Amino acid sequence: MKIVKKVCAFRGALVLLVASMAALALSEGEQVQDEKDARPEQVVYGEALYREHCAACHGVSEEGEVRTAAALVGEHNPLRVYGNAQILYNYVSLTMPFDKPGALEPEEYWAVLAFMLDVHGLLPEGLELSAENAEGVALRREE
Ligand code: HEC
Repeated sequence: MKIVKKVCAFRGALVLLVASMAALALSEGEQVQDEKDARPEQVVYGEALYREHCAACHGVSEEGEVRTAAALVGEHNPLRVYGNAQILYNYVSLTMPFDKPGALEPEEYWAVLAFMLDVHGLLPEGLELSAENAEGVALRREE
């Protein structure tokens, strides 16, 4: 009886070990990809936050997924109506995530916004989006 238990415990430990090795390999792969990522750090950080806090309702693309709210990062750009990035920040930081308004830190909201703007080609090159400059970042692209 005892031996059986021990064998089971050993197998359990082995499964854990293999799983953690796989996770390690995965995270190493991600790091390599991040290093190759030419996007600004704020945008990369913002995408991770977006996926964690917004994508469940807003999706990560425009097609082929179930969403409960407007697509924010697809072809269509719903951000234009906000005029500039400060107005968008005010709205988003007060009301989103819909089920947990205000849950993110200010710099996290700025990063999520930087990501969304970058997707739509609205983030000026080299700019780290913040309260200092957001008013000057127009969301209505001249066409
Ligand atoms: C639990 C679901 C949910 C989550 C999570 C969520 N939202 Fe929303 N979002 C909504 C809903 C519902 C609306 C529509 C609200 C309304 O019309 O009053 C909305 C509206 C918006 C809009 C306005 C869209 C438009 O067409 O004008 C923006 C921008 C937005 N959300 C950003 C975000 C961001 C950024 C996050 C993550 C930090 C987030 N949301 C997380 C449900 C969600």
